[in-house]
Amino acid sequence: MSKVKTLFICQQCGTQAIKWGGRCSGCGAWNTLVEELVGPSANPATMAGAAATPQLLADVSLEDAPRRKTGVEEFDRVLGGGIVPGSVTLVGGEPGIGKSTLLLSVAGSLAAAGLQVLYVSGEESLRQTKLRAMRLGLSSSPVQLLAQTQLETILEALGQVKPQIVVMDSVQVIETGALSSPPGSIGQVRACAHALVRLVKESHAALFLIGHVTKEGTLAGPKALEHLVDTVLYFEGEPTSGFRVLRSTKNRFGATHELGVFHMTAEGLVEVANPSELFLSGRAEPVPGCMVTVSLEGSRPLVAEVQALTSSCGMGLPRRRTAGVDFNRLSMLLAVLERRVGLHLLSQQDVFVSSLGGARLLEPGADLGISLAIASSLKERPTRRGDVAVGEVGLTGEVRAVSNLSQRLHEARRIGFTRAFIGPLRGGEPQVEGMEVVTVSHVRDAVERAI
Ligand SMILES: Nc1ncnc2c1ncn2[C@@H]1O[C@H](COP(=O)(O)OP(=O)(O)OP(=O)(O)O)[C@@H](O)[C@H]1O
Ligand SMILES: [Mg+2]
Ligand SMILES: [Zn+2]
Repeated sequence: MSKVKTLFICQQCGTQAIKWGGRCSGCGAWNTLVEELVGPSANPATMAGAAATPQLLADVSLEDAPRRKTGVEEFDRVLGGGIVPGSVTLVGGEPGIGKSTLLLSVAGSLAAAGLQVLYVSGEESLRQTKLRAMRLGLSSSPVQLLAQTQLETILEALGQVKPQIVVMDSVQVIETGALSSPPGSIGQVRACAHALVRLVKESHAALFLIGHVTKEGTLAGPKALEHLVDTVLYFEGEPTSGFRVLRSTKNRFGATHELGVFHMTAEGLVEVANPSELFLSGRAEPVPGCMVTVSLEGSRPLVAEVQALTSSCGMGLPRRRTAGVDFNRLSMLLAVLERRVGLHLLSQQDVFVSSLGGARLLEPGADLGISLAIASSLKERPTRRGDVAVGEVGLTGEVRAVSNLSQRLHEARRIGFTRAFIGPLRGGEPQVEGMEVVTVSHVRDAVERAI
């Protein structure tokens, strides 16, 4: 094979070098040299097939094929309603979280619907993939399998099979003979991804690239590819719990921050259609320090419990710990509770706040629930069973209404909550049958009424 010319290019200043080095001779930065193909064929256009003459926006035809439902509803939801032909999706996640399982299920479902699906496994043998397929009940699925890591061979197979759906598991193991860098290096990952993307854009196939991310997000790959792909999904979960959450952080074809919830079982991933119940303790007797809130994940309301524990810290430095709740937000809420409500938290109490079941309560709508959970713990009095609180808390202690309130309260009502504390709403409070809605304009009122 004739070697295409490659150079090592500093990602910071653009200095070129013939050999790899730890330090750039141009700017002095460390580990910034990445091997890249140079020359006329080196710059694959992501917009392959685009004409050189501009067209009037009004004349651009939209006769592209419609979205394809995968049959895995939670997956379709996160994609924004199904797969867009010709789109490229990056599915990132920590090792062992279930990426291969998820994509093989989706591949099986699409193949069963009659689509031509190619699953390229670079990490596992055909036998291993078959074993997984058996576990998922897909052993006789018409998915085409290829165990291969050489980019050139994969491209050849793509030309032969002409699949409508391609899964590359994973993008970090493919390598092209054109580069001397090892697989997994940024240069390799980027060059291979570029080549695959170009091919599928030409053939209007949909491509799924699986990528490993570590906790620090340091591994070459996913981060370096995000700009190149249309959609970025992250598959996450607590390793110890069976629950897995799929979210989109970028989507050129739909809303981001949509959420899909799955349960990992021996038979594979089971969709969880009612995730709200996951994030509630379901205990019969109310205990101090707990409050329920409804946060919004994409367009989806999630009912989740916040738990707070305050304990006197004596002379020591007060400690704060959070899980599923923003640390800086907690500091702000503690200051508001101290200064505007008169609760002595700042210098006298250790405060621990966490969300139940790994829910992420990072939007301001959770403020009121968090504040009430803390106040409830401090006062050692439980909140009433059936209560939820949804509202943003400002620095003066004022409570503000948040978006999609009606939708959130309906979700809370649906799973059995009967009273909601909310911020004042222009145009009156939302009417939800069976739900008493209490408007509170200051967090002090909320504490007085709820605890
Ligand atoms: N027999 C089994 N019963 C139940 N769960 C299983 C079984 N085998 C595997 N699993 C689950 O599947 C997970 C691995 O899934 P999968 O291989 O799809 O993950 P991955 O993200 O592709 O991992 P990798 O980073 O190794 O490619 C395991 O962590 C485990 O939770
Ligand atoms: Mg895998
Ligand atoms: Zn440099």
